[in-house]
Amino acid sequence: MSLIYRLKQSQPNFTHGIQDYLGEIIPFSRRIKNPLLKVPMVALKSLEWAIYRWHKTPIRRFYGIKSNELIYMITNACNDKCPKCGIWERPEPKEQHLRIQHFIKCLKRLHHNLYQVTLTGGEPLLFKRDVMLIAEEAKLLNVPMVTVTNGRMLDEAFLARYKELGHILVISIDSVSREKWNEFRGTKSFDIVMPKIMLAKEILGDQLRVQSVLSRESAEEIPKVIAWCKEHGIQHNTQLYQDFGAKNWANLVTHKQMVDDGTPCAARKNICIYPNGDVVKCFDHRRIPLAKQPLGNIGEQDIIEILCTKRSTEVSKIMKTCNFPCKAMSCNKPQVLLFK
Ligand SMILES: C[S@@+](CC[C@H](N)C(=O)[O-])C[C@H]1O[C@@H](n2cnc3c(N)ncnc32)[C@H](O)[C@@H]1O
Ligand code: SF4
Ligand code: SF4
Repeated sequence: MSLIYRLKQSQPNFTHGIQDYLGEIIPFSRRIKNPLLKVPMVALKSLEWAIYRWHKTPIRRFYGIKSNELIYMITNACNDKCPKCGIWERPEPKEQHLRIQHFIKCLKRLHHNLYQVTLTGGEPLLFKRDVMLIAEEAKLLNVPMVTVTNGRMLDEAFLARYKELGHILVISIDSVSREKWNEFRGTKSFDIVMPKIMLAKEILGDQLRVQSVLSRESAEEIPKVIAWCKEHGIQHNTQLYQDFGAKNWANLVTHKQMVDDGTPCAARKNICIYPNGDVVKCFDHRRIPLAKQPLGNIGEQDIIEILCTKRSTEVSKIMKTCNFPCKAMSCNKPQVLLFK
């Protein structure tokens, strides 16, 4: 597909049409080595181009119907201080925090393309009201939602409405022993959160999931968490430790094992939003030279306009063959490989 998209398909423009056609056909024809095949192949490609151009909106041509995940890191702020994670050390200044209306607009614009909207952070439930606004809107738009939380701010009213909306809640647990839990969270939160997890299980039933981070430090604890989840009938996912800027924990699995696992990175189908509204295609975008800078900001620009820029589509193309350990992050893996 062409990597140069126009924003408003409803307002055809001849010059854009020519640019779009040439932008697709020239690189295609250069890839045909056999001179005898050039003409028929270009004719077929032109036919394909015409079909896609007139029968699909530009955003659908790369971002297929229900085939993308929108991931919103709603804040960097957190009420825990996990040594594995450096996010809580850099909360965004209040004036840089995106207004919720901008995210809701982004969700509305993209909903046909989304199989899921995921909220993470920092701690998303520090913005519980906004999380609920998104949950309500996602329900109206028929987009399943997942919220990843440390569980501290859960309460009965939130859980009851969240259950009705049919969304999934993921609570992060790296140990089920009080001493290790408190060490791993950097706060004495075991006695606060454990009862809330039980309440969440009671109210949410199978809409509750648990995720753990596997590292050298947590290696002895994770099998106990998995056993605990089995005992309570909760689906569980293990995420491999990654560099989240803290550098206090160490990998159990080598970088080589992570990149040689035979699975391609699925992140190119992601659309990620930072707390200030900056848009990237994966939260490890700085590893890709062309993607170092954000692609745009949803507080200032329409999300479709941002995703239709040449750089956005070039970045997505590069990501097809990107192979860093971060591809092992749950949000960058095919969904079917996750919770069991
Ligand atoms: C950054 S947290 C944000 C949401 C929420 N505060 C929580 O802890 O669930 C999202 C997920 O990343 C996991 N995580 C934190 N530090 C990590 C690291 N260094 N490597 C891999 N996963 C990590 C957390 O355990 C959690 O499941
Ligand atoms: S992992 Fe989650 S709970 Fe822990 S410090 Fe990071 S954002 Fe906060
Ligand atoms: S391997 Fe890492 S940097 Fe590359 S696309 Fe996947 S998540 Fe992004």
